[in-house]
Amino acid sequence: MKSDIAIAVKDLSVRFNDVEILKNVSFEIKKGTFTGLIGPNGAGKSTLVKAILGFVEHTGTVLLNGRVGYVPQLSSFSREFPMTVYDFVKLPVRSQPNWKEKANEVLKEVGLGGFGPKLIGTLSGGEFQRVSLARALILEPEILILDEPESGVDEMGKAKFYTLLNDLKDRKQITVFMVSHDIGLIFEKCDNIMCLNKTLHCHGPRQNVNLEEVKRMFGQFDIWIRGLHHYETEHKGSERDEHTQ
Ligand SMILES: Nc1ncnc2c1ncn2[C@@H]1O[C@H](COP(=O)(O)OP(=O)(O)OP(=O)(O)O)[C@@H](O)[C@H]1O
Ligand SMILES: [Mg+2]
Repeated sequence: MKSDIAIAVKDLSVRFNDVEILKNVSFEIKKGTFTGLIGPNGAGKSTLVKAILGFVEHTGTVLLNGRVGYVPQLSSFSREFPMTVYDFVKLPVRSQPNWKEKANEVLKEVGLGGFGPKLIGTLSGGEFQRVSLARALILEPEILILDEPESGVDEMGKAKFYTLLNDLKDRKQITVFMVSHDIGLIFEKCDNIMCLNKTLHCHGPRQNVNLEEVKRMFGQFDIWIRGLHHYETEHKGSERDEHTQ
């Protein structure tokens, strides 16, 4: 594996009960980049993430060049449980004597210094999203994999989260690979875009991925159109200005 590659996937296929979910997916992700993975519901995005992490059976190969941190979908965790932010964040390092120091450090990293004693049930969606990121950061990952972390978070919170990820990428050279439904934010904030629908439809620097083509491919999906509209009205103008400056 080349030293500048963080994730290398070759001919990855997954079948569930004889149904082909992913077919011959191959790609490489460079270290220190932020890749957004988009695709319609049922496209196999979560399955791809789980196959990369070794949670589902697959054929083909997956190579990971570094320690991996994983942020699962928010909805997969019930927050009813009376647990503090400290309890939640320290889970991966709970047996280490300096867990509190580490927890405070990562909470500060995600802009939630002082949140340790709060109950997780009292946090907003955006705050819980950042606490989940803090928990993944506590093991000092070199590769961060996130599955639709923004569901249930308001627009402001979402944008802030992408900025935070970009900041982590720049400061710590962490490779970020994130599944998202927000095509607008993906086109605005990621270095690379990957479109998946059973097979890989496109993968490349966002400047090379044709927005019109993506729209044609997935345009019938409401949630995408909403994100796209937001991108086109709120960001595209300013981005063009940035480039001409
Ligand atoms: N454990 C499983 N057993 C059988 N089928 C599964 C299993 N997990 C996922 N599937 C099916 O595989 C397909 C892809 O699911 P997956 O969750 O990867 O899609 P997704 O792109 O993440 O969708 P979404 O945008 O809704 O999160 C779906 O048709 C789903 O029903
Ligand atoms: Mg999914």
